Amino acid sequence: MAQAEKMEKKSSLMNVLEIDGVPLPVISKEIWARVCHFQARPDDLILATYPKSGTTWIHEILDMIHNVGDVEKCQRATSTDRHPFIELTFTHKEKLDLDWAIEMPSPRMLKTHLPSHLIPPSIWKQNCKIIYVARNPKDCLVSFYHFHRMTSMLPDPQSLEKFLEKFMAGNVVCGSWYDHVKGWWAAKDKHQILYLFYEDVKKNPKREIHKMLEFLGKTLSEEVIDKIVYHTSFDVMKQNPMANQTALPSHIFDHSISNFMRKGMPGDWKNHFTVAMNETFDKHYKKMMAGTTLTFCTEI
Ligand code: A3P
Repeated sequence: MAQAEKMEKKSSLMNVLEIDGVPLPVISKEIWARVCHFQARPDDLILATYPKSGTTWIHEILDMIHNVGDVEKCQRATSTDRHPFIELTFTHKEKLDLDWAIEMPSPRMLKTHLPSHLIPPSIWKQNCKIIYVARNPKDCLVSFYHFHRMTSMLPDPQSLEKFLEKFMAGNVVCGSWYDHVKGWWAAKDKHQILYLFYEDVKKNPKREIHKMLEFLGKTLSEEVIDKIVYHTSFDVMKQNPMANQTALPSHIFDHSISNFMRKGMPGDWKNHFTVAMNETFDKHYKKMMAGTTLTFCTEI
């Protein structure tokens, strides 16, 4: 696609509208009333994340758990075509993920990037199990920055410095990282929520898979768990076209700019942040996270 055409496409999709002070993509805004009335079922499993926190990774692990480690079954379709988002739809799709979710037989796995206070109320009412994955903000920010560069669904991030300002102000799609991670952290005391950290899964995937199994009330043999650890490792997933997002049209994800499966490594922010950026960020972080028991690990 010619550069001018690409930029036009980017600018036509970059409109982000707010719901309750949270910037969301236009598609979410257009279907917002339907999202609010979405009918959850008691056996739904919800995977909730702030963007770039490991959604695709944990989705792969959960799909493998559901399919008892059957690799072929997990390669039945691309990650985006296996389980729907509630409020989002990738722009190349003809059908809304929301409609797909509504028609889907139980048990469903549904994904969402919504902050806890915007979740469809029936999810709370039905007491659905929710797995929340949080990632340290510095790596999340760097990953989000590169994602903005490679996808036509989001505005041009300009520079990392500019993006850092927007991220700190919560002026990015899905809003403030701080509100997201803190909101879900508070929600876990009242609802069936397993709160996981990207860095913990990276450090000890087997232990974290055991946590997921216990939360889901499932058991798998150690052999199957080892298989899941192997097939969902960064290097193996990066080679898997059903998981690495390369099957999406290049006008949606341009892998020549940046891979979706980019680094997958806690601490990559150190290759991007200047000393000044780091100081600014740390100061802001301290203020925003004062009073919370939630802590993050920025390297392993
Ligand atoms: P990086 O850009 O830092 O590499 P999401 O799926 O929420 O959009 O998150 C994408 C981030 O998760 C990317 O981070 C991607 O590389 C990383 N990721 C995907 N699969 C992974 C895996 N198996 N192990 C570690 N990180 C993974």
